[in-house]
Amino acid sequence: MQWQQQTCLLTGATGGIGQAIAKALANKGVSLILQGRSESRLQQLSDSLTGEHKILVADITTIQGREKICRMAELNAISMLINNAGVGQFSLLEETEEAVIVDTLEINLLAPILLIQELLPLLQKADQQQPAPSYVINVGSAFGSIGFAGQSIYCASKFGLRGFTEALYRELADTNVHISYFAPRATATSINSDQAMAMNKALGNSVDSPESVANALIQQLEKGHARLFVGFPEKLFVKINGAFPHIVDKALFKKLPIIKRFLRREKDVEQTAQEVLS
Ligand SMILES: NC(=O)c1ccc[n+]([C@@H]2O[C@H](COP(=O)([O-])OP(=O)(O)OC[C@H]3O[C@@H](n4cnc5c(N)ncnc54)[C@H](OP(=O)(O)O)[C@@H]3O)[C@@H](O)[C@H]2O)c1
Repeated sequence: MQWQQQTCLLTGATGGIGQAIAKALANKGVSLILQGRSESRLQQLSDSLTGEHKILVADITTIQGREKICRMAELNAISMLINNAGVGQFSLLEETEEAVIVDTLEINLLAPILLIQELLPLLQKADQQQPAPSYVINVGSAFGSIGFAGQSIYCASKFGLRGFTEALYRELADTNVHISYFAPRATATSINSDQAMAMNKALGNSVDSPESVANALIQQLEKGHARLFVGFPEKLFVKINGAFPHIVDKALFKKLPIIKRFLRREKDVEQTAQEVLS
């Protein structure tokens, strides 16, 4: 990987994992276009990084937002796109508002698909006779391979993103565009509510630092792996769930009472917050 020749558009740059990826790439000499929705947080991030970078305020779920991103990508001739922006969900399906379902699927699945489609001609460098390689990394999740109670919509979005990435990886195999799927496990960022973090602790789930996740992404890019699942035993569970899902069913059924306890607490917290606001 010739890091210093790369110009990377990073979505969700202001988030926990996004900031760590931005720092790791900037330290490698990559020029960044940092996308998010808060100008002040983007500027603060940009100022903290090594090198010169650009910021881009845009909502990836709107046509206008994606047009803005594409204009900036063209102007700067990006060679790398990291679809990292995302939202979480921690609720029983029957208690999940329709707007949350739609937003989760739009942000985590539909927006990355549309962004890639719009940016493909640029990434393929169709105007060049011998185009240099370009890279697309879709940030999925261990829950893009393992269905988990209380996160059905999040799982649907990340399973979808994994399937899309795999199909496109095979579709683009004879082009200069390398597309890959990067799947962290639980990571200490604000995407996880306090109750979700407490549940992880109660279940004995490991939680990674955003910095170690960013390092894993750098390794994936350096080694050119089409897919990477971060952390053991999660990467083993992904394999077992693919081959023998009934084994994982049984293990997760045993954990269901604990998961539901934290889902009930999450609901109580949300209700209290709504009462305070009304
Ligand atoms: N943390 C984990 O446990 C974990 C585990 C596995 C996978 N992941 C995945 O890792 C990625 C990063 O997550 P994170 O943990 O860093 O979450 P985070 O700290 O909550 O950051 C999420 C980022 O996405 C951006 N975003 C959300 N909606 C957006 C929209 N409509 N348009 C543009 N940007 C939007 C946010 O921008 P604003 O600041 O403007 O809201 C923020 O920069 C996600 O795809 C997530 O699914 C996370």
